[in-house]
Amino acid sequence: MKKRSIKPSTFLAPVPVALVTCQDKGGRPNIITIAWTGVVCSDPPMVSISLRPSRYSYGIIKETGEFVVNIPTVDIILKADQCGITSGKESDKFADTGLTPVSAEKVTPPLIEECCVSMECRLTEIVPLGVHDMFLGEIIATHVADEAFDADGNIRMEIINPLGYSPMDRSYRALGDALGSYGFSRKV
Ligand SMILES: Cc1cc2nc3c(=O)[nH]c(=O)nc-3n(C[C@H](O)[C@H](O)[C@H](O)COP(=O)(O)O)c2cc1C
Repeated sequence: MKKRSIKPSTFLAPVPVALVTCQDKGGRPNIITIAWTGVVCSDPPMVSISLRPSRYSYGIIKETGEFVVNIPTVDIILKADQCGITSGKESDKFADTGLTPVSAEKVTPPLIEECCVSMECRLTEIVPLGVHDMFLGEIIATHVADEAFDADGNIRMEIINPLGYSPMDRSYRALGDALGSYGFSRKV
């Protein structure tokens, strides 16, 4: 394959989109759309989210040490985009989007009812990197919608249907199609 050299780029695309919830000390919840997120450890289960210090959510999560990573389905793409182009500094994103806050089990920020998956996180570390700082969070509770399980208790990813984002062309993408399963190359 003949290749073109472009400027050094974070060409991991598409990545899943997360709607991260936080709540200030006054009890006001907020939602920020995050594409720079990833799994960083299986045990203890940990994720990262990277935020620019200018984000309203940055100071809240730094101060409270808690956040929830909610995974939107493609159906709520417009609401996910809206949470990424407006700031909680000026607006109430739950009221504006119609998304529903639900009490979490172990942390103060709410889960988002309309997301099939929510992971409650406790901040363990902030790693300054450059324009983004990476927030590492230990997942202390995970919630998955009932309808995302089949009768045998297996996860149905087609129901979770996560939304993807490609920074290279700033497009939203579907991530849902099943193409094979772990290790299946041994059997073909
Ligand atoms: C698809 C998408 C992905 C985004 N990913 C990030 C991200 O990973 N980190 C970040 O700091 N901002 C990201 N943003 C921008 C923030 O979501 C946006 O600035 C938002 O208005 C900040 O909300 P807040 O000020 O209420 O915290 C993203 C926006 C969109 C639309």
